[in-house]
Amino acid sequence: MAAALLVLQLSGLSMHGQSAEAAKVSIWSGLYSIEQAEYGRQEYMDKCSNCHADNLVGMFPAPPLRGAGFVTRWNGKSVRDIYSRIRSTMPADEPGTLSRKETFAITAFLFQENGFPAGENELTGKPKELQQMMISLEK
Ligand code: HEC
Repeated sequence: MAAALLVLQLSGLSMHGQSAEAAKVSIWSGLYSIEQAEYGRQEYMDKCSNCHADNLVGMFPAPPLRGAGFVTRWNGKSVRDIYSRIRSTMPADEPGTLSRKETFAITAFLFQENGFPAGENELTGKPKELQQMMISLEK
């Protein structure tokens, strides 16, 4: 049993199987809901805008959270990457204070502001699932 599991895990890691690719979900499929992004907007204004600005263009040293530079930096990364970055390092003056719900909502708001479409469901998931959700410039 344990040996079979290990084999499965190893074959999953090698990434050349179709299954690893097929499990990926694009940000263009609509990973958050409009209501969630709206809640995220309120949280953002409350907890992030004092450094990153109301319109997300940033205020040195806080970088912009919208636009080509931002999306290019996160291109090819996963939702897990950006979720973890926010949850563990932001707000910079009070890291670790955001709940899961708040972090997902703010992430949804950032996606909305960067032109990624909303979908039927809220953005949520276990770390493994979030790792399969990919941010990409191209549809
Ligand atoms: C006290 C100022 C301050 C606050 C408040 C703040 N940030 Fe930041 N943020 C920064 C600075 C400075 C950086 C760049 C240096 C660093 O990574 O710490 C940054 C970097 C980031 C990055 C990485 C940007 C990139 O593309 O590399 C993200 C994402 C981010 N902040 C999101 C948020 C969110 C979401 C909030 C609100 C929950 C928030 N920040 C609140 C100052 C702040």
